[in-house]
Amino acid sequence: MVKQAQGDPHDMGGVYSMASGISVPSANAFQRAGERGPVLLQDAHLIELLSHFNRERIPERVVHAKGSGAHGTFTCTDDISDLCMTDLFSKKGNSCPLTIRFSTVGGEAGSTDAARDSRGFSIKLKTQEGNMDWVFLNSPVFFIRDPTKFVFINHVAKRDPRSHLGLADDSTMFWDFFGTNPEAAHQFTYIFGSRGIPKSWRHLNGYSCHTYKMYNKKGEWVFVQVHFKSAQGVEGLTEEEAAKVSPDHAQRDLFENIEKGNFPKWKIGVQTMTEEQAEKSGINVLDMTKTWPYDKYPIRWFGEMELNENPCNYFAEVEQSAFSPANMVPGFASSADPVLQARLFAYADAARYRVGANWQQLPVNKAMVQYPYMNFARDGAHAVDNQGARPNYPSSLYPLDYKPDPVPYTKLYSKHESEAVMSLSEISDADFAGPKTLYTKVFSDEERQRFVKDVSNSMNKVRPDCKKHVFTRALAVWKRVDETLAQQISQKLVLN
Ligand code: HEM
Repeated sequence: MVKQAQGDPHDMGGVYSMASGISVPSANAFQRAGERGPVLLQDAHLIELLSHFNRERIPERVVHAKGSGAHGTFTCTDDISDLCMTDLFSKKGNSCPLTIRFSTVGGEAGSTDAARDSRGFSIKLKTQEGNMDWVFLNSPVFFIRDPTKFVFINHVAKRDPRSHLGLADDSTMFWDFFGTNPEAAHQFTYIFGSRGIPKSWRHLNGYSCHTYKMYNKKGEWVFVQVHFKSAQGVEGLTEEEAAKVSPDHAQRDLFENIEKGNFPKWKIGVQTMTEEQAEKSGINVLDMTKTWPYDKYPIRWFGEMELNENPCNYFAEVEQSAFSPANMVPGFASSADPVLQARLFAYADAARYRVGANWQQLPVNKAMVQYPYMNFARDGAHAVDNQGARPNYPSSLYPLDYKPDPVPYTKLYSKHESEAVMSLSEISDADFAGPKTLYTKVFSDEERQRFVKDVSNSMNKVRPDCKKHVFTRALAVWKRVDETLAQQISQKLVLN
């Protein structure tokens, strides 16, 4: 028998039993009718083992299926109560526990951590005012700005419906999408640059991508973009390096560093714009394919995140975790960015399907405020917090206290956020300024050469019968980013 070290998380002790609590003399033995006879239906232990095994999986996330998680702490390093009334951010030293999940986007649950892809950066801040979920990415921009297109960008990054081939073998749909949705050029330039394959979960920054709002106790609000800056630095892998690492290399890196006590850290800040600044900025703050220049809108740092605890059980604490951008505590609010508005619905809906109606009762998702379930939602599958005998409607016999909204949400809207229209964004020159600066000014010569190689390699995986069609449209987009870049890519494309 292996002697367990003291405090070993594997050592729970105990007597072997079934879920009913009934003990069983052996985990391996089973009942049969004689030495060589058939297995007996009365063997409740074997039946429980087999039938529970059949139900061990919950549906994997339709996007962001492969990931890693950890627990940690948020600490306020500077009081920003002039901007934001959230208690947590109102006093230096305030802190709260958190759970984070990093993820790739397109791959399935068993896919490689070293994919060229965006990275998810989801955090559940368990504050005294309720859970605040920040569901962010490692790039400051996103592929799209029309919420309808979210489904399509994810379809084209996944398997072809007929051949069942993924991007590594057939990039036709992906580059067809690029050629017909040029607003994605900024994000494509990020993804095919050095940040496209992060070295590990520790070596990436986090960005809200969307504009959110912060408001103070007086009801004064500003637009904000949230930034997480890695204290470990931002580093990436080349495709050659990525091909050599194990599929779980980022999981291993995070787990082992936390086990060793080498706790990764990020500092947290916001770029801000008042409504007047936004009007004069020339930037559509509700368009998430654009960034705000740092020199004009500097980051105000106010917090730190440290990851200092590995989950004890991955399934319970990471797979079953679920994050919803709609979980916002007073002081933090959504903007009218249409992609964000769609997300306010999509995540709790996904959690109800994937984890179940009572997903917020599971320990990893559960709020730690004093009375987390003083509501009238009741029952459903696996209702563990059943609220006992309390009335299930607003009863005058047992009234609840109500906390007034400190700032009515109607005060938080700008004059541009209210008229209903059918909307689809238009492409303009402004869509190519971001990727052009990234390619011509931010990338080094070596990064530019690698970019041309990696883009053309990927484009050469378009199906031969579609190449002419897809290349023409995709090259037209690269030409608007930079003529020389388009020429260089074009020279490396093989038509048949
Ligand atoms: C209309 C746009 C979008 C929709 C409808 C959408 C929907 C979804 C859904 C359904 C999931 C799976 C959730 C689950 O199964 O628990 C997911 C995961 C995720 N999404 Fe989005 N998404 C959108 C855009 C974005 C954007 C713009 C970002 C970042 C700024 C983002 C970041 C993430 C992250 C980080 C996860 C992983 C969450 C986790 O670790 O559980 N998504 N998204």
